Amino acid sequence: MGGNTFGTLFKVTTWGESHGRALGAVIDGCPAGLPLDEEDLKVELVLRRPGRRYTTPRKEGDEPQILSGVFRGKTTGMPISVIVWNKDVVSDYYELIKETPRPGHADLAYIKKYGYEHWDYRGGGRASGRETVSRVIAGAIAKKLLSCLGVLVTGNVVNLGGEEFPSAKDPQEGLKARLSPFRVVNGDEGAEEILRNALKNKDSVGGIVEVVAWNAPSGLGEPVFDKLKADLAKALMSIPAAVGFEVGYGFKLASMRGSEARDKIVTEVGEPVLEGEKAGGMLGGISVGGNIRVRVAFKPTSSIMIPEKTVNIKTLEESDIRVPGRHDPAIVLRAVSVAEAMTAITLVDHAMRSGLLNPVRIEWNESCERLWRLYREYLPTSLS
Ligand SMILES: Cc1cc2nc3c(=O)[nH]c(=O)nc-3n(C[C@H](O)[C@H](O)[C@H](O)COP(=O)(O)O)c2cc1C
Repeated sequence: MGGNTFGTLFKVTTWGESHGRALGAVIDGCPAGLPLDEEDLKVELVLRRPGRRYTTPRKEGDEPQILSGVFRGKTTGMPISVIVWNKDVVSDYYELIKETPRPGHADLAYIKKYGYEHWDYRGGGRASGRETVSRVIAGAIAKKLLSCLGVLVTGNVVNLGGEEFPSAKDPQEGLKARLSPFRVVNGDEGAEEILRNALKNKDSVGGIVEVVAWNAPSGLGEPVFDKLKADLAKALMSIPAAVGFEVGYGFKLASMRGSEARDKIVTEVGEPVLEGEKAGGMLGGISVGGNIRVRVAFKPTSSIMIPEKTVNIKTLEESDIRVPGRHDPAIVLRAVSVAEAMTAITLVDHAMRSGLLNPVRIEWNESCERLWRLYREYLPTSLS
């Protein structure tokens, strides 16, 4: 039982269903002294929001309200509770298809585990991608805390529908991807073409998100089961539609020679550091100091017009089901913000566990503010 809370010291609980009255997050373990208001949360939420080009037209207002844990503009060290009311919810369609679990969705698994009569069939219920609003809220707080460690977290699409797109070479490139409607560092036109074709064929495509935590400190990760790479894998694989995880060069390393696969250890400004990011900035599951680079693969959107076979739960008759209306041709675009959020949450938890971030109170200063402000500066003007 359970499973709705993530983290050891920085504990994030998400709650709520897609078509319920509201959803939200409770963040327990955020230190006192962090300046926080609703605008800070919106800076990240706008990039996850549907309604951008090539994302679903559902109008999610995503107006977060902070209910607790903030006083006089700063966190108090008490649980921070944030609520987002669900608007633009139309459940009629789900009434029509509630006896026929949608292929690719969590419907059948929930029916088998919890029983058909207990299952919230409206919009995927708890399994909906809408749950990730709560993750992005907690992620915004985590990113803000990481600003005080000098760490910036950015993500971008590196594969869309089987086509490769470049990795971010530096934090500026990572930030610039926030301005792209396709969340790519370079190649908006190519990405648009892929999505246009998918839509034309009433189909969808998958993709891969790369997340980089720039300038991460060394020492994050606890041997042996709470290695940083293991916790990042759990965090990122818990995102709906995530199907694969890689650290650094990932699966590519499996087909390389030992002589090619190691990162050199070199001296830089009087410090031994890794040259290259083949290992994703971690050795033995502990960060070595520098950039942490991970990837997560997302499957194509399941809700498409092309029919697929399913079974009526009551009659056990087989039939075809298709999802009418305009759909999201690629989940991966909206998953970037979620992947960044889960990475940031994991890093904050480990920074506290390693004694690098005071879990009780923090001193917010000009250098924290300067880094945090960058996220706000890299927002498409249509969204800010
Ligand atoms: C931000 C986000 C939005 C999503 N939106 C959709 C969607 O519009 N249509 C859809 O079929 N799946 C969508 N998904 C994926 C489903 O929620 C997911 O495939 C489903 O819950 C089954 O889980 P699984 O794919 O992890 O097995 C979305 C996922 C995320 C992260």
